[in-house]
Amino acid sequence: MKIIMLGAPGAGKGTQAKMIAEKYGVPHVSTGDIFRANIKNGTQLGMEAKQYMDKGLLVPDELTVRILLDRVAQEDCKNGYVLDGFPRTIPQAEVLDNALTELGDKIDYAVNVDVPDENIIRRMSGRRACLSCGATYHIEHIPPKKEGVCDACGSELVLRDDDKAETVKNRLDVYHKQTQPLIDFYTEKGVLATVDGTLPMDDVFAAITAILG
Ligand code: AP5
Ligand code: MG
Ligand code: ZN
Repeated sequence: MKIIMLGAPGAGKGTQAKMIAEKYGVPHVSTGDIFRANIKNGTQLGMEAKQYMDKGLLVPDELTVRILLDRVAQEDCKNGYVLDGFPRTIPQAEVLDNALTELGDKIDYAVNVDVPDENIIRRMSGRRACLSCGATYHIEHIPPKKEGVCDACGSELVLRDDDKAETVKNRLDVYHKQTQPLIDFYTEKGVLATVDGTLPMDDVFAAITAILG
């Protein structure tokens, strides 16, 4: 099963993608997590990506597409994957589409997690992220068992550099201009399903599993 998560920054793509990955036994592939892991490890790729990410801008398509195609070519993606944060532009979607078509394959579902802009800013300031394993928490809605510590791996939780209010605003602008057109792209392909992302996490997941079966 090949699934794409669509939605604004902070809509809950990562939260839901992890739950989908677990239930359906497919890897969770997040370009944002890949970039953040590279930043943390001080790689060349990380340094390049950080310049864009800290401003709330997209990392250039060429670089992002290369990373993603490498990742999904790995053995664990053979039976499917859930893509979180990719594609984010029409050119990225076209590259993915062409790569899959060449393999006689296609995306099964594009799940659009719908959350209005007003809700987003509030969510982001409360988010805490684990840069070691990619787990995400919210200080009010989804708190870790021990404050400031990742339940999954015990690492320290941090506020992401791009979760400052003014950067979040830029990310929302970029989303509306560059990513929202993908909703039409996948509607035309007949694979789009929209869920209400303002509901509690488990209700959003129930809506998604009702679609995926
Ligand atoms: P990326 O890491 O993908 O960030 P994003 O799209 O901005 O999305 P977020 O991770 O911020 O939000 P999310 O939807 O995953 O929400 P989450 O589940 O954490 O990308 C970061 C940057 O990398 C980009 O800005 C860009 O520079 C670059 N990049 C990445 N991919 C790229 C690409 N393809 N092309 C170019 N550049 C790329 O939830 C948010 C918060 O809400 C959490 O605290 C969570 O606990 C809480 N929450 C979740 N669900 C609920 C709920 N139902 N109710 C209440 N709270 C909830
Ligand atoms: Mg995310
Ligand atoms: Zn962790």
